[in-house]
Amino acid sequence: MTKQRVIMDVDTGSDDAVAIMAAILSPDIDLVGLTTVAGNKEINFTTDNTLRVVELLGADVPVYRGCEKAMVCTLLHNRHGDYTGATGVGTKLDAQGRKIEYHTDCLPLPAPTIREQPEHAVFYLVDTLMRSDGDIVLVPTGPLTNLAMAMRIQPKICQKIKAICFMGGGFKVFNATGASEFNIWADPEAAQIVVTSGVPVTMVPLDATHRANFTLDDARELRSWNTPAADLVATLVEERVAAYNAFQPQELPDSAPLHDALALAAVIDPQVLRDVRLMRVDVDISGGFADGQTICDTRAFPDRTPNVRVALDADRERFVTLIKSLLRSCPAR
Ligand code: BDR
Ligand code: CA
Repeated sequence: MTKQRVIMDVDTGSDDAVAIMAAILSPDIDLVGLTTVAGNKEINFTTDNTLRVVELLGADVPVYRGCEKAMVCTLLHNRHGDYTGATGVGTKLDAQGRKIEYHTDCLPLPAPTIREQPEHAVFYLVDTLMRSDGDIVLVPTGPLTNLAMAMRIQPKICQKIKAICFMGGGFKVFNATGASEFNIWADPEAAQIVVTSGVPVTMVPLDATHRANFTLDDARELRSWNTPAADLVATLVEERVAAYNAFQPQELPDSAPLHDALALAAVIDPQVLRDVRLMRVDVDISGGFADGQTICDTRAFPDRTPNVRVALDADRERFVTLIKSLLRSCPAR
């Protein structure tokens, strides 16, 4: 069977890291390139972290640095403005007064010795897609700035993209504000450009990712394999569970979502997503209370053409089993 060619656009990021590892390890995916964007962290960190993950797995995948700030967020005075990614370690006290650290700048891996490519991510996307046979699937797992920029520079890429499967948005679940998910909130105009591009789009929102959590038991199992890749994922799951337990306790005890890995897994096995519905989706770019909301029109007769397949649920067992099987294939120390 031919491998699916994929470009991932990432803001690494601990869940991005797991998604990248899964793509590199999957026999079904040919990871053509990785582009980075500011999001979880500033672009220096998201690029550096991406290189760390590629080097950990000894993979030969080029990394291209992309946009360091959102497209136009600075232009509205009442906007969150100039978002370029956070820096520093997030620290909060939980209900018991314990210090919980999360969203550290750097992944717990050695500083990379491999280097990023000289070309900008946006031009790489334009060149690579225009030269392709229309066989590349894009998996964005951060703000959609790079992709929207590429679409504006060369709209013809939209006919060249086979499909987009992105992590972002919310149907009923939100995290950045009461109405928006982080990746979309960070660059709402970019998201609106992408969902209205005419490319077949699948959206993997928080509603799905929160149904596919990894647990501390999963982390223990991964740890017992004693491989660098499984060890890293175990550490990331443990850190995420500590933060989610403290600030966003999940229905499944001692668990946390690995959002981005679900979007990548859906390219390998679409059945990891459940209750996928074709809807009209637009992004609120008003700068108001719902700024960055993915407005999913569930009416029987929406007045605009349905444009996005929205996953409302996920198959946790299937997803966790897939990720574990990929990590299992990684050689022991
Ligand atoms: C998304 O935001 C980032 O923090 C994660 O990496 C994920 O892509 C979840 O809202
Ligand atoms: Ca991400």
